Parts: sequence; C-alpha cells; structure tokens
Amino acid sequence: MILRSVEELAIRKGDRVLVRVDYNIPINPEGLITDDARIKGTIDTLQYILDKGAIPIIISHWGRPQGGASPDKSLARVVPELQKILQHRVNFLAHLFCETTKASLAAAKPDDVFLLENLRFHSGERSNDIEFAKALAAYGEHYVNDAFPVSHREQASVSALPRQFAHPAAGFSLLREVEYFSKLTHAPEKPYIIIIGGKKIRDKVRSVRFLMDKADEVLVGGGSSYTIQRARGRRVGFSIINENLIDEIDDIADSPKVKIPEDYVAAPSYAEPEKRQVVPAYDFPEHLEGFDIGPQTRKTFIESISKANTILWFGPLGAFEERSFAEGSREIAKAMVKATKRGATTVTGGGDSLAMLNMFSFKDSLTHASIGGGACLKFLEGKELPGIVPLIKER
Ligand code: 3PG
Repeated sequence: MILRSVEELAIRKGDRVLVRVDYNIPINPEGLITDDARIKGTIDTLQYILDKGAIPIIISHWGRPQGGASPDKSLARVVPELQKILQHRVNFLAHLFCETTKASLAAAKPDDVFLLENLRFHSGERSNDIEFAKALAAYGEHYVNDAFPVSHREQASVSALPRQFAHPAAGFSLLREVEYFSKLTHAPEKPYIIIIGGKKIRDKVRSVRFLMDKADEVLVGGGSSYTIQRARGRRVGFSIINENLIDEIDDIADSPKVKIPEDYVAAPSYAEPEKRQVVPAYDFPEHLEGFDIGPQTRKTFIESISKANTILWFGPLGAFEERSFAEGSREIAKAMVKATKRGATTVTGGGDSLAMLNMFSFKDSLTHASIGGGACLKFLEGKELPGIVPLIKER
C-alpha cells in the first residue's frame, strides 16, 4: 500500500493546507500536558508546509465531548506547547465557522499558522457529516492527514473531508506509522514475536488472531494473561479477568504459539506491595492478585526476544506505575532496547506503553514507538482504516 505523501502535493506560496493532527494528548489533574509526543510528531509536516510558503490550518479533536463546546476540552490549552515546539506563533480560532474565523482564514498570509477549536464540539464531526466536511474543505486548497491515532474512526475530518480534495495526502508521521505497521502485518523479518500486555484483552483478541498466523510466538503477560490462564483451566486468585471472553478464546489459549506466564508477582492488593510474593501460575493462591510477571517468566520472555528479528510489544506486563510491580516490564523493555541495538525491528504502541517507556527513559530507544493506540490494533487486525483509504495511491 503506497500513500500519497505531502511532498507530492503541488503546494504553492500562499496556499492554505488543512492538516488533520491528533492533539488528543494526556494531561494530569492540574491540567498540564504530560506527554507531548503527538505534538512533536507533527512538527516536520507543519515545518514542511511553512517552508513552502504555505499556511497550515491545523484541525484536531480532543477527548470525547458530548453535546457541544465545553471549556475543559478546548484545544486552546495546546497552543503554548505547540508554539514552543514549533517555535512559531500559532493563531487559535475558537469558533469553527463564525465570521471572524472565515475572515481570518480568507486573509491568511505566508508564515501564518492557525489552530481551529476541537472538531468534536460539532456533532457533524462525530457523524461523518458530508456538509460539515464541505464547510471545512472551503478553508483550504489542500488536505493532509497526519493523525494516525484517529484514522480508524469514521469521522468527518478523517473520512469525509479528504474526499473533498482531488489529492488528499499523508503527513510524515502518518507515513512512518503506516510503513512500520505494514511491515509488521505483511512482511516481518523472522523470527517474529509479539508481546501482548495491558488490561484490555478484549481490544486485542482480533489483532492476536490475525497476527498469530504471521508470528512465530505470541507472549502474553500483564492483565491480558489472566483470562487466558483461566481459559486453560487455571485459578488466578483475584486477578483481573474478562469473564465473558473465557469461552471465546479457546483458539488462542490452545495455540502452541501462545506463551503465558509461568509465575507472577502477586499481593493481597495494589496498595500492599510490601506483601508481594512470587507465585507459580499452576498454583495461584486464592487470596492474592497478580501485578507483574515473575522472574522465571521474565527469563523465558527475554530468551525469546534475544532470538527475534522483529518484535511488536503492546501493553505493559504489570502495574508498572508502582515500583514494586515494575520489574517485569522494565526487564522486558531493557531486552527490547538490546534487541534494537543488535539490529532487530522493535515496535510498540498505545498510551500505556509509551507512558511506561517514558518512565524507564527508553522511549526513543526502540525502532518505532507509535503514538496510536486503537488505530494500531485495528491496523494489526488487517483492516483498512477509514482515514487511510482516501490517501492510497497504489495498492
Ligand atoms: C486516541 O487517543 O486513541 C485517538 O485520539 C482516538 O480517540 P477516540 O478513541 O476518542 O476516537
């Protein structure tokens, strides 16, 4: 699959380029941005457009506001950080379609940068409304999608809007994401292993099924593993499981390719890490909950990683936010970094994985750390994403 790149657009001086980004970024309870990777990822595309003498008109969503504008979901919060990283003044337009916005965009000059308010304040964005898309399209001569993390959504700015342009194109961040995920889904260098963690096993079942065929091994740890242990008939104490899935994942639980932990670090509760102990998976105590993979599992997983040429890792292997439960994820992260250094392709994705790698200061040490979450999983299910289809130049 080859996408039309922003570099192939005939951008002339003074052209206005609608750039769909994903500034749906995490903030802490004080409202401060905790991870700016999604802003940083868009800078080379924005700079490329500025270097052409053209005007980026940045559009994005933030959160899932329901029923109109809400100040706590305003993209105005992103402006200072964006200005700092882009090293450029950014004009924020607080209303998508008011006269001031229309006049400002009509009078835009080279070197201007605009950021429009949260698209999801309008129901037309969420319902993929064609009229909403046409109204946005009137603001630009070109359209660029640089928002991989939202490209699995059938929403106006990623689906209907690009179809209003003869040559919608992909930005550099989207191109990088598609390059790595295409390789993982179609032509991974073998041996290829997949490591699945995190709590939400339901979200990952389809991707695991699709990738099971292509991978040599699937290592499952973290919250996702307890449901498989149960499907294999083992007890898991109070550990997190998805009861409804137990009878639906026999194919995964029975696959010889799927490895699940042999031991865990367990405790009576998350709040009592000092009472943690290593327990075998075949004899998990009824009164404990699993919070990390155990030392024997670490050893087995690391051995597999050391032989692989392609490794995809999705989701932490334990409750890494608590130091006492971070050992498993940290040791696997170290093994991933080592594999990267010897030339293996190492890819990770999802907000929790990035937060984890950040905490261990390993974020830039893998081949590719995707800023996508749900979009990666959809791509890894072998699906064509609604935001990417309009950008395909050649299959
Ligand atoms: C994400 O963070 O996964 C994307 O921004 C998509 O957000 P959504 O799940 O609210 O559509």
